Amino acid sequence: MNICIVGTGYVGLVTGTCLADFGHTVVCVDNNKEKIDMLNNGGIPIYEIGLKELIDRNVKEKRLSFTNDLKKAVEQSIAVFIAVGTPPKQDGSANLEYVFDVAREVAQHIDGYKVVVTKSTVPVGTGKNVYKIISEELDKRTSADYLKDHPEESGKKFRFDVVSNPEFLREGSAIEDFMRPDRVVIGSESDSAIAIMQDIYRPLYLFETPMVITNIETSELIKYAANAFLATKISFINEMGHLCERLGGTIDDLAKGMGLDKRIGSKFLHVSPGYGGSCFPKDTTAVVDIARNVDFDLKVVQAAVEANQRQKEMMVDKIEAAMGGSLDGKTIGILGLAFKPNTDDMREAASITIIEGLKEKGAKVQTFDPVAMDEAKKCIGDIDYLEDAYAVAKDADAIVLLTEWNEFRMLDLGKIKELLKTPVFVDLRNVYDAERMKALGFVYESLGRGKI
Ligand SMILES: NC(=O)c1ccc[n+]([C@@H]2O[C@H](COP(=O)([O-])OP(=O)(O)OC[C@H]3O[C@@H](n4cnc5c(N)ncnc54)[C@H](O)[C@@H]3O)[C@@H](O)[C@H]2O)c1
Repeated sequence: MNICIVGTGYVGLVTGTCLADFGHTVVCVDNNKEKIDMLNNGGIPIYEIGLKELIDRNVKEKRLSFTNDLKKAVEQSIAVFIAVGTPPKQDGSANLEYVFDVAREVAQHIDGYKVVVTKSTVPVGTGKNVYKIISEELDKRTSADYLKDHPEESGKKFRFDVVSNPEFLREGSAIEDFMRPDRVVIGSESDSAIAIMQDIYRPLYLFETPMVITNIETSELIKYAANAFLATKISFINEMGHLCERLGGTIDDLAKGMGLDKRIGSKFLHVSPGYGGSCFPKDTTAVVDIARNVDFDLKVVQAAVEANQRQKEMMVDKIEAAMGGSLDGKTIGILGLAFKPNTDDMREAASITIIEGLKEKGAKVQTFDPVAMDEAKKCIGDIDYLEDAYAVAKDADAIVLLTEWNEFRMLDLGKIKELLKTPVFVDLRNVYDAERMKALGFVYESLGRGKI
């Protein structure tokens, strides 16, 4: 099947590449010329494990290509996926201007029948609005006035359907998530569009992947509901961590004890400095806004958002307390900047809030991240970016483990201790064993371990 993906960012590039690997012929479009040139020259604009090899293979086998030419891409495809960004606006609602721009542009080039698929995370009602925008554009293209100037278009029949097909991939394991999803959600009112979508995802039938076929509104809401629930789970366990610290409990055991209950499950019960990334922060505020627009107060999700902001800020207090109550003039070494390991994505990373907080309190910050430093330099200034964890430890008053990259799980702790000015280790991911760290002579702080 011929498929066009508009928006070659995280989701668009992974979706396009994986669909090409399924055997479809995919053209990825972006209006960022640099990005397309980079891809056509064998480069890759994002860091994602395994993606480069998959792109190379499918380009070589001529199933995957990259272009700025939307017209040609739409004309040669039956399905057109919209995978552009939906960043948050100042008030927390989703900015849909890129999605609507693409819908308008796609409508200029529709010929025959197309299935227009919203892959971007969009508020309920967006699919209907995309339908309206495309219909209006097509009405213009079939009006008498237009046909007077474009006689070559007369007699042409345009048909299209809109489908919602939200994406659930996680950065860092995006390919595995796309190739072996827990489910595929397809929202549409059109049987023929649903049949085409089922054909696109046919290779997943091999793994008996469940397909949730529903209407557009439900499909759009499923994505927000899933992300809001997971974000709430994270905020919940982070609050339990604070209770453990105050009451003498251990969050690692508490999470295990909770997670073994099959109704709860063990995933997303890891205490952390707060969630970040391109999805949870914006999707939680967006769903609160969606609810507000229909006069409903989404109290649980709003509380999760507030708890997450407080969590990031409290990490600064924790580091300050570990430094004996003052950060003024202290050098703090930060290990890890990306919002999670295996990505260079810095969007809404906890490191941004924490480092800004440390600087405000007079600390000097030096840091290392295995892949996110170029991205981090765009959003965090006035700190020293160094070449590895040991350079970060050298002459620092404390070291803070912020993103749990694998290489930070196996540090030479003896060397770290020797390099530090004072042996303070703040582990915001509970990677290390508290007893062992204390035995090694560290002043060791972690999250939610009150009795250690
Ligand atoms: N990143 C994730 O992990 C993830 C996971 C699931 C869903 N989503 C959702 O998927 C959507 C895309 O997210 P992303 O992280 O891939 O965004 P992104 O910012 O990485 O990529 C968006 C791309 O769209 C391009 N673009 C914008 N306007 C365009 C236009 N008119 N024509 C062609 N290209 C255009 C941009 O140049 C950019 O390359 C969002 O709605 C997001 O919420 C993201």
